[in-house]
Amino acid sequence: MALQLGDEAPDFTAETTEGTVHFHEWLDGGWGVLFSHPKDFTPVCTTELGAVAKLKPEFDKRGAKVIGLSVDPLDAHEGWSKDIKDVTGAAPNFPMIADPDRSVADLYGMIHPKAADTTTVRSVFVIGPDKKVKLTLTYPASTGRNFEELLRVLDSLQLTAKHQVSTPADWKQGDDVIIVPAVSDEDAQQRFPGFKTVKPYLRTTPQPTG
Ligand code: BEZ
Repeated sequence: MALQLGDEAPDFTAETTEGTVHFHEWLDGGWGVLFSHPKDFTPVCTTELGAVAKLKPEFDKRGAKVIGLSVDPLDAHEGWSKDIKDVTGAAPNFPMIADPDRSVADLYGMIHPKAADTTTVRSVFVIGPDKKVKLTLTYPASTGRNFEELLRVLDSLQLTAKHQVSTPADWKQGDDVIIVPAVSDEDAQQRFPGFKTVKPYLRTTPQPTG
C-alpha cells in the first residue's frame, strides 16, 4: 500500500553523492524533504536540481534537510552535477541518492509502472521531526515542481505543529491563520485575543509568533 500521511517514513541505507546515508540517522530528529527524479541527464530534472540548490539556504533556515533520488548510479550523478551548474548556475549542494537497484524507490512507491516501468515519477515526501510523513506529492515526469511551494508548506506545517491553527488557501508567512475547530471560543479568547469570527466554524487571527 502507498505511504500515507502519518506513516513512519521507511528507514534505508543508501549511497549518495555525499557518502553513505542511514536515513533516520541522517534526519537527526529534524525535518526532511525526500524527492525523486526520473532520470539523470534529463531536461526538467536538470532545472529542478538547480532550483533546489539555489533554495537550499531557505530550507536550512527552516531546519529542513533536503535529499534527492534518481535510479541512476553515483558516477552519473557526479557527471550530471557539472551540467546542472552549467545550465542553472548552481550545482546540487545536498545529497543525491544513487538507487540503481530501485530499492529506495520501491520502498517509497516512487515507481508507478503505468506511467513508466523503470524510472520514478516526481515524488516528494516531507518528513517531520517524529519521522512521520507529513506531506506527499506526486507529479508526472513532464511537469517540473514548484519548490517555493514546498517552503510554503514547511512554513505551514511548522506553524500548525506549534499552535492550534491551520492555514487558509494560498496562505503565506505573515497572513492571518485559522483557529482549529477543536479550540472553544473561550479558549480562543485567551489564546488569540481579538480573533475574528467570519462564520461560527471559521475564526481567524493574526499569525502567532514564537
Ligand atoms: C525530464 O526531466 O525532462 C524528463 C525525465 C524523464 C522523462 C521525461 C522527462
